[in-house]
Amino acid sequence: MNIVLLGAPGAGKGTQAQKLVEEYGLPHISTGDLLRAAVKAQSELGVKAKSYMDAGQLVPDALVVDLVKERLSQDDAKDGFILDGFPRNTAQAEVLDAELSKEGLKLDAALLVSVKPEVIVKRLSSRRTCKSCGYTAPAGVDTCPRCGGEMYQRDDDKPETIQRRLDTYERETAPLVGYYREHGILKEVDGDRPVDDVYADVKVLLGL
Ligand code: AP5
Ligand code: ZN
Repeated sequence: MNIVLLGAPGAGKGTQAQKLVEEYGLPHISTGDLLRAAVKAQSELGVKAKSYMDAGQLVPDALVVDLVKERLSQDDAKDGFILDGFPRNTAQAEVLDAELSKEGLKLDAALLVSVKPEVIVKRLSSRRTCKSCGYTAPAGVDTCPRCGGEMYQRDDDKPETIQRRLDTYERETAPLVGYYREHGILKEVDGDRPVDDVYADVKVLLGL
């Protein structure tokens, strides 16, 4: 199954993806995680991407698209994937459709996790992320339950950057809701409920 996760920063895309990965073993392709790994490695891409990420802006398409194409070309993505954080604008969505159709593939669902902005600001300010594997949890969890790595606060989870990320989402990414609705694959879940309740609905919506 080929799935795209849509939703504002902090809506819970990564959290729901983690649960789908644990239960169904689909590869979780998060452009945020891939970009943070590039920043950590101080690769050419990472050096270029960092200033955009710190400012709460989208990294230019040319940089992100190649990263995703490369990841989707790996063998484990041929039998299904969960794309988290990509596409983030209409141009990226069109590239994705074109790349998949070259392989005779298509998206099965675009799942929108909806949460009100005020809830998001609270969630992101208290989020901690694993330095090693990217696992996320609310503040208070100091050691990653998945790999034992150290949990830290992302640079872009500071209040002023959170607001900028929300603005970027509204301006550039929210139009994708209409795009996928027109393509007949949009599914929407209310993400402002306990994680397991959201996940139960996610499975029903995806027919799992
Ligand atoms: P990215 O890493 O993709 O960040 P994001 O979209 O802002 O998403 P988040 O990871 O912040 O949120 P999430 O929805 O996954 O929430 P989570 O599950 O962690 O991107 C970062 C940056 O990279 C971008 O700003 C941009 O610069 C760049 N970038 C990435 N992709 C790009 C692209 N395609 N093009 C251009 N640039 C790109 O949950 C949040 C918190 O809430 C956690 O603490 C979690 O434990 C908690 N939580 C989750 N669900 C619930 C619940 N139901 N109830 C209570 N708490 C919950
Ligand atoms: Zn970890």
